[in-house]
Amino acid sequence: MFVRHIIVALASAVSLTHGSQPQKLLSLSNDNDRYGPSIDCAKKNANFIFNAVHSSMRQWGNSLHHNGLSLYPAIIPQGTLLYHGAPDAKTPPSFEWLAFEIEHAELFAVSWEEAGQGRPSRQSILLSNVEKSTADEAHTQEEWIFKPGYLQVYQANRPLRVLYIDGSSAAKAPYGTLDSQDLIVLDKPRSHREEMERAEDLCTLAAEWGIDGFIRMEAGFELINCNFSDGFDYLSHKKRPETDGVRRREDVFFAEYMRDVASRYHGIGARRVLLDYSSMTSVFFYPANLSSEESGDYDLSLPRVMNTEHDQLLRIRSDLKESIFRQASVHDSIDWQGVVDMIVSRFADRLTLLEADLSYSILTLEIDNLLNMYIDFSETLPNITESTESCSLHYLQPVEPSTAQDHLLYAAIKTATHKICTTLFQAREHLLGCTSACEDSSVVPGMIRELKEWLNWTTWKECQSCPQDTFCYIATYPWGFSKDHYNPSCLNQTELGIRGRVRGYWIW
Ligand SMILES: *[C@@H]1O[C@H](CO)[C@@H](O)[C@H](O)[C@H]1NC(C)=O
Ligand SMILES: *[C@@H]1O[C@H](CO)[C@@H](O)[C@H](O)[C@H]1NC(C)=O
Ligand SMILES: *[C@@H]1O[C@H](CO)[C@@H](O)[C@H](O)[C@H]1NC(C)=O
Ligand SMILES: *[C@@H]1O[C@H](CO)[C@@H](O)[C@H](O)[C@H]1NC(C)=O
Ligand SMILES: *[C@@H]1O[C@H](CO)[C@@H](O)[C@H](O)[C@H]1NC(C)=O
Repeated sequence: MFVRHIIVALASAVSLTHGSQPQKLLSLSNDNDRYGPSIDCAKKNANFIFNAVHSSMRQWGNSLHHNGLSLYPAIIPQGTLLYHGAPDAKTPPSFEWLAFEIEHAELFAVSWEEAGQGRPSRQSILLSNVEKSTADEAHTQEEWIFKPGYLQVYQANRPLRVLYIDGSSAAKAPYGTLDSQDLIVLDKPRSHREEMERAEDLCTLAAEWGIDGFIRMEAGFELINCNFSDGFDYLSHKKRPETDGVRRREDVFFAEYMRDVASRYHGIGARRVLLDYSSMTSVFFYPANLSSEESGDYDLSLPRVMNTEHDQLLRIRSDLKESIFRQASVHDSIDWQGVVDMIVSRFADRLTLLEADLSYSILTLEIDNLLNMYIDFSETLPNITESTESCSLHYLQPVEPSTAQDHLLYAAIKTATHKICTTLFQAREHLLGCTSACEDSSVVPGMIRELKEWLNWTTWKECQSCPQDTFCYIATYPWGFSKDHYNPSCLNQTELGIRGRVRGYWIW
């Protein structure tokens, strides 16, 4: 069974306050349960579920589809290194942020002279790194004078149990990036600016739910770690270099930071985070109203839960809580991302090819290449219904669904593969039935285009291979223009033009 991973061993090694409680399993809804998860909802939202699983813990898809509506119990394995930028060398006395990448933490390795009140927000610190000495100084420089701080390194000394909130969930933006943590996890609507209060509430909840923290994403993945005296060894701290006014060559630093971010487009790497897909909670499993009705210069088409009934949100929250408690028990997760990856890698490029203006013979060969596997040519009239079914189930055969979530994921993924296979078989039928007159027909490309629009795979938004001195750039909070969100492109250091990209898609 190639799709199981080692959540079992790790999870069972964790001691838990809730481990001895009886475990209530998430169950699929019946007719009397109007807020419960159902196979019908999973089928209806199949493309969203497919893409959420495909993008989980990946910087690329979660930057593009930045309103995450799925939550995953996860393990950070023992030994994992995480980085913390701070004003001093002291271990944080309470909750604080840890970064998975070095440059991300370096941004916060500053101290400050207080001119205003309290401490600067994380966003002020982030922007101070790149806005210094620009004409546009009003936003951050009036209140704080920043000086070098410390880079601290921590290592997990046991497997850490955390909740991963998908999407760009660390983006303090009013578009819906914070919906799932504010409206579901915390059940507390608030302004997107109140980040300290949000983190404090998350950690209060973490204590209650028996977890160590929360993984979120902005330009880089981060952990809100709730207790530094429990779960981490403090490995080292290093003072950052003094600079006279200019902390560093901002353009070089920013480009290298973005290169770091880009290196995680397809995964966090080294199994630093293991997701328990079989215990995930996704709004897409529920009959929730996902409409977004705010206006503004951002991606309005992305789903939100701002218009979802409160009772519906409470139901999702209660299932989420159960699934976190349940993860404590020994149970192995199916690697659903592996299943989805097999499907995307089989079809993504080929569907793009089929959409192009191919000759009749090449088109036929390409489609046959994808479908012949599922056809028994010993029959004079192959049974296409049977072939379509076998094509749809191909990549699902290695998995054996066990939890309710497994069944929901299975239904969603099968809906997607069924759509792919049906479209391809219809294209094949069309080609078989047509004479030489349809050689330059746009029928097949049209069918494929419609399929691709529905699938909406983030893979298709990636740049075609970038020249060596550039990388594919997409808007990641808090940086990037609108065009970087809608049309990511290969940019070099100069074109990245750090200052110009501070205010754009996310902040204006
Ligand atoms: C943090 O963990 C330490 C060690 O387990 C414990 O003594 C302390 O009470 C915890 N702090 C909080 C705020 O839970
Ligand atoms: C596909 O995703 C993009 C975001 O990348 C979004 O703007 C668009 O509306 C989505 N299309 C469909 C058909 O859902
Ligand atoms: C979803 O919510 C919006 C805004 O409240 C409302 O206009 C719409 O009718 C709702 N959709 C459904 C299916 O209830
Ligand atoms: C084709 O296969 C399906 C499913 O196995 C079956 O229900 C149907 O009767 C078959 N059709 C023919 C023409 O044999
Ligand atoms: C980046 O590309 C632009 C042209 O688009 C070019 O003028 C510039 O010299 C390049 N910068 C670097 C550092 O290669």
